Amino acid sequence: MLPRRPVIFFNDMESIEPLRWGIIGPGAIARKFAQDAQAVPGCVLESVAGRDAARAEAFAREGGIRRFHASPLAMAEDAAIDAVYVATPHHNHFDTAMLMLSHGKAVLVEKPITVSAAEASRLIETARINSVFLMEALWTRFLPVFDEVRRWLDDRAIGRLRMVSSGFCVRGNQDPTLRWLDPAKAGGSLLDLGVYCLSMQQFATGAAPLSTSPQAVVASTGVDELLTVAMRYPDGVLGQFTCGLAAHGDTSLTIAGEAGRIHVPHSFFSAQRATLLCGNHPREIERPFIAGGFEYQIAEVCRCIRRGAIESDKMPLRETLETMRTMDLIRSQIGLVYPWERARHVAG
Ligand SMILES: NC(=O)c1ccc[n+]([C@@H]2O[C@H](COP(=O)([O-])OP(=O)(O)OC[C@H]3O[C@@H](n4cnc5c(N)ncnc54)[C@H](OP(=O)(O)O)[C@@H]3O)[C@@H](O)[C@H]2O)c1
Repeated sequence: MLPRRPVIFFNDMESIEPLRWGIIGPGAIARKFAQDAQAVPGCVLESVAGRDAARAEAFAREGGIRRFHASPLAMAEDAAIDAVYVATPHHNHFDTAMLMLSHGKAVLVEKPITVSAAEASRLIETARINSVFLMEALWTRFLPVFDEVRRWLDDRAIGRLRMVSSGFCVRGNQDPTLRWLDPAKAGGSLLDLGVYCLSMQQFATGAAPLSTSPQAVVASTGVDELLTVAMRYPDGVLGQFTCGLAAHGDTSLTIAGEAGRIHVPHSFFSAQRATLLCGNHPREIERPFIAGGFEYQIAEVCRCIRRGAIESDKMPLRETLETMRTMDLIRSQIGLVYPWERARHVAG
């Protein structure tokens, strides 16, 4: 049984109509979504679907979800589902999100939205043609601490921006069959962890990098297990990030300007604190979560759908696509080609 959290009302959402969610991919992160969604008013966990009906049923029972569907297609065809959360491994995001968008469902897809920019571009086009909501679940963008960081940047509290650097380096389970080391599931540190660094550096710079210079160490499975990338952004801004699955490295974010810097300490991707350092007077802020942190992105999706928006201003599709293009570029520079891409290349 998942621990139940009290429903805590977001001020502006007290009287909204219920939004009925379906979850696809009853795994680790879907569990966190189901838990945090309970803190968002009007968010109804209607159903869950996976490749196996019995697993979906067990997940529904444990997670307090009303129903289950025997397959993603059955969920797509159910008119009583308004929005879906795609929580399958990366390589499956495109097919599942496309199925749901084609059936008119609003879609929140786990990061990375797809494996390549070409796939992301097709999803975005489909969402626009069908006038349905689509967003990458880059939950960090919605954390309250980053609302304050945004204000500091907009107020030019650190002066002219010059450098941005971040890290998301952990040493997890090294079992080569796990999704993050498995090339058949689009594993590797760039797509799994580097995506946070790129997206949040884009949040800070407001731009995609103009050029990238990566260095990677490849695991025995063939995916990147350690990666560091130097980047040049427009207007004389330099960037750098390091991500990895093989070492307990840095997990902070630093945004440096000519008048000071903003530091988001470990782990920046789940930050509840940040510091503005200008002169001798650091300003520290703390913004604790209501639940586990996903509640803010879930609330954003609910708000957008309720007002008829097909994308979020906080995680625009243009920026998601730019990040995918940058990851395509880095992958081509380090020679990381996934098995089905290689097969397509040989066949072509
Ligand atoms: N935002 C975050 O903090 C965060 C953290 C971790 C992961 N993620 C993202 O969430 C996604 C899932 O990660 P996870 O760690 O939750 O994975 P996971 O525990 O393996 O769960 C994924 C679920 O998807 C289904 N699935 C597995 N392989 C599949 C396939 N080949 N095709 C279709 N469905 C498949 C499985 O359910 P059935 O076998 O029952 O179908 C599985 O339980 C990844 O894209 C990852 O990047 C995000």
